[in-house]
Amino acid sequence: MPNEFVKRSLDEIRFWSRIMKEHSLFLKLGFRCEDTQLIQEANQFYRIFEQIEAKSHSFTDTTDPEQIKHFNMEVHSAVSHIWVFKRKILGLIIQCKLPGGNNFPLLVDHTSREANYFRNRLEELNTGRLEPLPDAIIDENVFFLRIMADHAKFIGHLLDPSERQLVEQARNFSQDFDQLLFQAIDLSGMRPQSQTQPLLDQFLDQNRVSVVSLRDFKKTARDLIEACRIKSIIHPLLADHVFREAERFLHIIDLFEASLTGKEVTG
Ligand SMILES: [Fe+2]
Ligand SMILES: [Fe+2]
Repeated sequence: MPNEFVKRSLDEIRFWSRIMKEHSLFLKLGFRCEDTQLIQEANQFYRIFEQIEAKSHSFTDTTDPEQIKHFNMEVHSAVSHIWVFKRKILGLIIQCKLPGGNNFPLLVDHTSREANYFRNRLEELNTGRLEPLPDAIIDENVFFLRIMADHAKFIGHLLDPSERQLVEQARNFSQDFDQLLFQAIDLSGMRPQSQTQPLLDQFLDQNRVSVVSLRDFKKTARDLIEACRIKSIIHPLLADHVFREAERFLHIIDLFEASLTGKEVTG
């Protein structure tokens, strides 16, 4: 019989281990040729998460929950290590110890926040301590809106400056998501009074509209980059990566919406 804990664990690990693997690649590509030690470390993390990803696909929803609990711990440890690596790189860049490198500090910080999110998920799964729905709705949205706002900024800065229209569109998305993020923070500050069904429902609806259009923009950008139709220094895999993260956020919004309206039905 499929176990909900096993199913959710595998879903998180399959998605985020691929993301962690790709972060290792992106960070490596942003290092200078002489940063051989850092390149080697990035390669190591790539292999570690590649193995974790493969292992996650060798399990099924009927795998023994104890085995999955152990696997979650193993992944948790790898994620903690990559988080430390990312923060170390951030420190080096900010202290100007990697002059001429091509990793933006915000990008490195962003990837470390994603690692931290993944680590928290694994802890929640293994301890069985899940946030109450109204809190989860606000916290997940605060996390993902910031992630989306960052993506828009990265795209805007990695497109060739001559792609004026696309750069402008990316800037608009950045502003749109900064504003949504502030609204989410406002809603968060008004807790618990703000956690009414109509407000949370409207919050999800509003966020969904913007995430759908950002998702579509990323999809278009990805296709244009793959077909070599626009000028940029965006790796095709990075374009697909940020597209997948938007899809993930949309999926989470839909799950929240279903839980909220489900509650409405049962009163
Ligand atoms: Fe990412
Ligand atoms: Fe991201």
